[in-house]
Amino acid sequence: MAHFEKATSVHDWLNQRLAIEKFEKVMMSEYWIPKNINFLWAMGMVLAMTFAILLVSGIFLLMYYQPNVDLAFDSVNYTIMQEVGFGWLWRHVHAVAASVVFLIIYIHMFTGIYYGSYKKGREMIWISGMLLFVAFSAEAFSGYMLPWGQMSYWAGMVITNLFSLGSLELNGIVEWIRGDYVPAQAFLTRFFMLHVLLIPVAILALIAVHFYALRFPHVNNLDGEFFDYDEQAELYKSGNTRASKVIRFANDFLSKDMFVMSIFLIFFFYLVFWQYAFAMDPVNFDPADGLKTPAHIYPEWYFLWSYEILRPFSKDIGLIAFGFAQVIFFLLPFLDKSDNVAPASRRGPFKIWFWVMLVDMIVLTAMGKLPPEGIFSTIGLVAALVFIGLWVVLPFITKIEKKL
Ligand code: HEM
Repeated sequence: MAHFEKATSVHDWLNQRLAIEKFEKVMMSEYWIPKNINFLWAMGMVLAMTFAILLVSGIFLLMYYQPNVDLAFDSVNYTIMQEVGFGWLWRHVHAVAASVVFLIIYIHMFTGIYYGSYKKGREMIWISGMLLFVAFSAEAFSGYMLPWGQMSYWAGMVITNLFSLGSLELNGIVEWIRGDYVPAQAFLTRFFMLHVLLIPVAILALIAVHFYALRFPHVNNLDGEFFDYDEQAELYKSGNTRASKVIRFANDFLSKDMFVMSIFLIFFFYLVFWQYAFAMDPVNFDPADGLKTPAHIYPEWYFLWSYEILRPFSKDIGLIAFGFAQVIFFLLPFLDKSDNVAPASRRGPFKIWFWVMLVDMIVLTAMGKLPPEGIFSTIGLVAALVFIGLWVVLPFITKIEKKL
């Protein structure tokens, strides 16, 4: 056993047992961050904070929510919204955070794509990030079931139906997932468990993996420049902070993160108090009714692009295209054949690929919200084909980039 001295202070007592000084160094004051990055690199911390907001507001909602098909709707729309003091505030905070977290996730993902932050050495950051994306999607979907309104019920019906795998008609799997022939009590209880326990725990673990994966390759920078972190850290510690290419995570970079987080919070609470309606579908203010199908069933805005990839095709092809859209982003580090880590603006054909992909996903999102009729369904079909085509050409254009 290690040698323990009589402690001179509480700090010293803890330090001898938990090595808090070393921990602080590794996680904060000697965690080195490149100087050459901008506000987009604060999005990761904004995400971590939004997740914390979701956890805290979720705990308050959990105190009054009833996971029972006869009580769930009223427990949300009557008890929480009208009876409990400030219940409406916690609900709006939770709903707005659930929507905005996806906006930030997309900005964070596209920043990574633009600057090539998924390439050699950083693949595990990307893969753990994509696992977080999937976990957040499952968390959002399971949460959407809980108010047990019309959209909860019918979205639950449509999404679980996908597991019958089209013409294979594996209805047994759908019933197994639902625990019944249609979404009912077993379904609600399961999605409640997933939403408040299993998926949040998985997200916490994945955030830890994502942060750990950042430790060795370090974050990328605006120029994609590689440098020796140990050398730059020594330069910084020797007092030559101006010449060094790095700064400390805490308090230096963290203070910049906090500035961006504060701006985000102003925007966030503006939405919570004045624009919360965008995060709540009016159809979901009608209680679930298995005998009354809503005129249009569509998901929340953040799932619309992948929904629109499913919709324009026949049943089976649509399912394959949808499955493709769900997994293809995982493969980005392996489909991009160029090892040139640089912003897209300096990568020739990839620059065009990036902007076409971004605009295409915005078009898919817009079309996903509109009824699949006339010109909208044609635009949706073209945009879905462009999405698939872009992934097919990626290895070729990045090979050309390598030769150039
Ligand atoms: C709630 C979920 C997430 C949290 C809390 C989170 C957190 C972070 C943090 C703190 C950083 C370092 C600073 C920064 O670049 O912002 C980071 C970097 C990164 N994240 Fe995430 N992230 C999440 C989701 C994702 C997703 C969905 C992806 C995409 C697949 C992703 C991909 C990346 C990449 C590639 C980097 C490295 C950036 C660089 O090297 O410049 N992350 N993340």
